[in-house]
Amino acid sequence: MKTLLLLYLCASVAWGQGNLDYDEDVEPTNTPADTGAPVDARGHRPIMKAGDTYIPSRPTPPPVGGASRYRGRPTSAPVGGPQRQEKVEQPEDGGCTHASEEMGVLCPTGCELKTTLLKQERNTKMSISELRPQVDDLSRSSNNIFNYVNRMSNSLRERQKVINDNSRVVSQYTDQVEEQHAYIKETVDTVFPSTIRVLNGILDKIKEKIQRLEKAIQTQKDDCKEPCKTKCPIPVVSGKECEDIYRRGGKESQMYLVQPDATSPPYKVFCDQTTQNGGWLLIQNRLDGSVDFGRRWDEYRRGFGNTAFDTGKGYCNTPGEHWLGNDRISQLTKTGPTEVLIEMQDWTGAKVHAQYRQFTVQSEVTSYVLAVDGYSGNAGNTLLEGASQLFGVNRTMTIHNGMMFSTYDRDNDKWIPGDPSKQCSREDGGGWWYNRCHSANPNGRYYIGGAYTRQMAKHGTDDGIVWMNWKGSWYSLKAISMKIRPYFASS
Ligand SMILES: *[C@@H]1O[C@H](CO)[C@@H](O)[C@H](O)[C@H]1NC(C)=O
Repeated sequence: MKTLLLLYLCASVAWGQGNLDYDEDVEPTNTPADTGAPVDARGHRPIMKAGDTYIPSRPTPPPVGGASRYRGRPTSAPVGGPQRQEKVEQPEDGGCTHASEEMGVLCPTGCELKTTLLKQERNTKMSISELRPQVDDLSRSSNNIFNYVNRMSNSLRERQKVINDNSRVVSQYTDQVEEQHAYIKETVDTVFPSTIRVLNGILDKIKEKIQRLEKAIQTQKDDCKEPCKTKCPIPVVSGKECEDIYRRGGKESQMYLVQPDATSPPYKVFCDQTTQNGGWLLIQNRLDGSVDFGRRWDEYRRGFGNTAFDTGKGYCNTPGEHWLGNDRISQLTKTGPTEVLIEMQDWTGAKVHAQYRQFTVQSEVTSYVLAVDGYSGNAGNTLLEGASQLFGVNRTMTIHNGMMFSTYDRDNDKWIPGDPSKQCSREDGGGWWYNRCHSANPNGRYYIGGAYTRQMAKHGTDDGIVWMNWKGSWYSLKAISMKIRPYFASS
């Protein structure tokens, strides 16, 4: 009986560890005493007992700096005098094809390609039917000439008989006829057949083209059989990233396709082309709590949520709640110096922002280590300096710069590594560059109304959408977004 019980215990422990979810309570071993007044600033996990150590820093790579991959934006033409707005002609305005072929087949507007192809096919068929009688005529007339030459050869033979009788008289004439005969024979033997051959070759090529067109039409038909999933029309302009798109004329804030690297497929992003002259690529967005941010490592790696919505304007001009994905963020920020703009809004509509001139996320190999530098703004420098409400080591614990990314199923934070009951991501609601634990928690839980209490929080921690240096630990923001742009000197 005892053995059975032991076995059951072992099994349940193993099962529990394999299926941990952030919603499941792991028995905390040092829950802060609930008796006293609630600690105002909660972001950190103070050292409470002997043996618990906190090593504040380890060498991490600095953000990518150096020369920008972009020059300053060319200054726009000075305004003055009567100006005529020049209409920008977009290639393939129906949205059928992209500047880049790899952008793929675009449904349902791709169906327009079918119409174009069908029209082309009709034209080609028509020109073939026009060509055909010409070819026939030509071969017929060359036959006639052939017969004529034959007849001439016969008469020549006859004449040669006459010449035998009276050679001298007609020798001069014969010479002429022979010459003419040779000339015509040569023409018939070489020039006409070769002309026909050329025409036949053209005919074959046209046939081949029609076959190819028919195949393309079939492919299009097959592709257009099923309705496309996205309701967002894909804009004609695309590029490596939003700054590239801006420079190619995509100045409307909306969803675009980007392809930062030719070897990987393009993907959808929301570009903010208005804030600070545009060129911003949205990597994170919260605005209504519609998307769950308590997700696993794999989901944070790949990205999740809704890139953009169509609010009735016919294109997707409104970003949804989403996380772009750590692989993509890392790829984009490692390409060159990149800045990040974090904008936030409280429930009264007040807005502040934090901007870092350098922002780099390393690859998954190093668990997406975060590096920022060059703060400006009015929200407070949480990422580099930690929570302004805390002091000493308590504050150092809330610095995010240099941290690895953590999710509830992948603990990379600096709160007693290896102890499953000491996981920032599990307690604070989302995936983030947790230290021990945070001063900013943009991927935390969404609390409607702003103020919340530790009693409302699942684990008694400040798990809301927190930016401590602006609103403290117990206020969850109404909206927050993070957008990146390649850094370049403004001209
Ligand atoms: C750190 O926080 C703990 C508990 O919140 C507090 O007792 C301690 O005095 C703080 N240390 C400093 C340096 O502020």
